[in-house]
Amino acid sequence: MRRLSPSFFYKFVILFFIGIIILVVSNTLRAQEKQNPDQQLQYKSDHSADIENTILNEKVDSVLALMKINEKIGQLVQYSGGWDVTGPSSSKGDQHKLDKLKKGEVGSMLNVTSVASIRETQRIVMEHSRLKIPLIFAYDVIHGYKTIFPIPLGESASWDLDMIGQSAYIAAKESAASGLNWTFAPMIDVSRDARWGRVMEGAGEDTFLNAEIGVARIKGFQGNNLANVNTIAACAKHFAGYGFGEAGRDYNTVHIGEYELHNTILPPFKAAADAGVATFMNSFNDIDGIPATGHKVLQRDVLKGKWNWDGFIVSDWGSIGEMVAHGYALDKEHAAEIAMNAGSDMDMESYAYEAALETLLDENKVTIAQIDDAVKRVLKLKFELGLFDDPYRYCDEERERTQVYTPEHLYVSRNVAKKSIVLLKNENELLPLSKTINSIAVIGPLADDKNSPLGNWRAKAEYNSAISLLEGVKASADKNTTIYYEKGIDLTIPTVEPGQNQFLHPLQFNTTDRSGIEKAVKAAKKADVVLLAIGEDAYQTGEGRSQTDIGFKGLQIELLEAVQAVNPNVVVVLMNGRPMDLSRPTELAPAILECWHLGSQSGYAIADVLFGRYNPSGKLPVSFPHNVGQEPLYYNQKNTGRPYNPKHVTFSGYRDAPKTALYPFGFGLSYTTFEYSNLKTSKTEINTDGSLLVTVDVKNTGDVMGEEVVQLYIRDLVGSLTRPIKELKGFQKIQLEPGETKTVTFLLDKERLQFYTINKTWEVEPGQFNIWVGGSSEASLKTSFTVVE
Ligand code: NOJ
Repeated sequence: MRRLSPSFFYKFVILFFIGIIILVVSNTLRAQEKQNPDQQLQYKSDHSADIENTILNEKVDSVLALMKINEKIGQLVQYSGGWDVTGPSSSKGDQHKLDKLKKGEVGSMLNVTSVASIRETQRIVMEHSRLKIPLIFAYDVIHGYKTIFPIPLGESASWDLDMIGQSAYIAAKESAASGLNWTFAPMIDVSRDARWGRVMEGAGEDTFLNAEIGVARIKGFQGNNLANVNTIAACAKHFAGYGFGEAGRDYNTVHIGEYELHNTILPPFKAAADAGVATFMNSFNDIDGIPATGHKVLQRDVLKGKWNWDGFIVSDWGSIGEMVAHGYALDKEHAAEIAMNAGSDMDMESYAYEAALETLLDENKVTIAQIDDAVKRVLKLKFELGLFDDPYRYCDEERERTQVYTPEHLYVSRNVAKKSIVLLKNENELLPLSKTINSIAVIGPLADDKNSPLGNWRAKAEYNSAISLLEGVKASADKNTTIYYEKGIDLTIPTVEPGQNQFLHPLQFNTTDRSGIEKAVKAAKKADVVLLAIGEDAYQTGEGRSQTDIGFKGLQIELLEAVQAVNPNVVVVLMNGRPMDLSRPTELAPAILECWHLGSQSGYAIADVLFGRYNPSGKLPVSFPHNVGQEPLYYNQKNTGRPYNPKHVTFSGYRDAPKTALYPFGFGLSYTTFEYSNLKTSKTEINTDGSLLVTVDVKNTGDVMGEEVVQLYIRDLVGSLTRPIKELKGFQKIQLEPGETKTVTFLLDKERLQFYTINKTWEVEPGQFNIWVGGSSEASLKTSFTVVE
């Protein structure tokens, strides 16, 4: 055999290794693509980003230079195309809108949906207007487009940022495939009052959680590049304070001090701005006497000034005009003047800018620099979306047909839904149900409801398209298990035709028809376990749906009592959009599963948890009270000078109810148990710029695999302003096999320790900090450290 020469051998070895390196690199790249096939990461140097920005600004300027004043003002006008979804009817008819579109005096449309309608509306502008500046099409895509995900409050209970981002991404993909470019989401209003109907639309009561989840949603909607045809522009709303309406009434006055505003309300918005959210929406409420839409400090000084954010602000529906009703503007013209001076860029359905801006300019009440700046912000987004390259680039019937409501999207919806479920109570391990269970009674007004699980902001969901609990149970139970079904009672009395819009029709609850209760009792008697689906109709929450009563409407508690009297094994399956008063179900039922309004795959996801195919891992993003009188209720209150003390019930509590929550923020059970130990900090002292690591061991002490949301809370003991008794500053969702222990590490740095101090700036103040880590806001494992000058 011929011997290989050494040089050939070396060449061979070198080539062999080069080959391996190429293989590894290409596989890694391919794996990255697979993880995120539609939004491949783009690595850019800062310099190239600067060049891109300069090019973008030059393009924007070149269009602006061609525009006449009526066309500029037109870019700041947004009309609704369909029926009036979320506000009083437009005062102007379709003909007016059509004429304006033709003249190029409209910048954006909302509520025009489907590729066909969007193409047609865009065509009017492209064929008739002088400059052919494309429209941006917006819609409230809040928790899915046609594939519906859990309501945002429910999804937030997953504390799973990747899943939340994925659900936003799918919502964006379906919307973009249907021609849309812009969603009015996420809502990042911290909301602490269960009476407020829109509590369902956000991430609950906590500032930090709202910021984290808001950013996950923004990234999901927008991806890395708005020009990608699968992404849409997001909108951080409502700027600001909307969640703090007095007495939980929608649109109501907000009394909040400057420090609380900065420390509690604004951080999620700052995080959104830093994450590059394309747009903001201002809000209906006034704050300390100034309507948010006309709030110059918030919009011009903070958002566009201090935060240096370069997107545009859209008003809420008619909120510019509503400054007249607020008693803040004399008339619409005055309202337009206030809004433009305050930095509100686009007028949604007030017809104030189109009517008044030109005159206001002539009268020097607004400046051309203000108008140009607003127009540039709008044009910039149109360029970023690629609409100037091709105004119809999102109008592809084939994509609309094939990329909406796909089995893959439904699969993700089921995953998100099961991760959003919170197990609140599980006495004697009633759950999960045994696979060999003989019989199950599925009872309740929501048990076979295919509509309420779709939630309130259901975009293009088909009426009655959700999988009901009954369907989910039937699909999951063993063939030898007998399933009885009885509705028992109706929750509501229909006031509109099935499928008709419910927005303006108040719900009527059934308080008299008990005719089905007896049959329900009979079914309960025969079964090993009862799954009782009660809670709220989808239209009990959402915009304009505040309630003073957060209990169970109609005859639901009566049904629970009747069923429980004959069969104590009741699992209450809750479907709702707000924290409810669960005192009676807690007294009566050994198991309670919080299932929110879970979306298209609701029943399958609930069955996954009921039958133990998925071990519940959700944690409450809001406190559930003992009764409505405790509202607004939240875990991170101030201590007061007379802190609550069970021995002194007169101190900062109630005489007739506990002060704390029935189910606290961050709480949720699992089919396994977790033990926390070994809480340590890497340092006991840091300076005001310093940072430290916090570690804790978490062990799965049960016998099934489980996921746990490990939560870190701090307390800054003494401050230049009083500080909350606990503040969430970190969380991680981990998975543990039975018996497995993991060490979880958190970083506490300046960003996490600072607050908006008496000096009106963000600072870390010296002094002692306590730390708690655990599975809820009532975590008791504690340590501390000190910050020195
Ligand atoms: C009013 C709501 O407050 C807002 O959130 C929504 O995006 C707009 N209407 C548009 O529908």
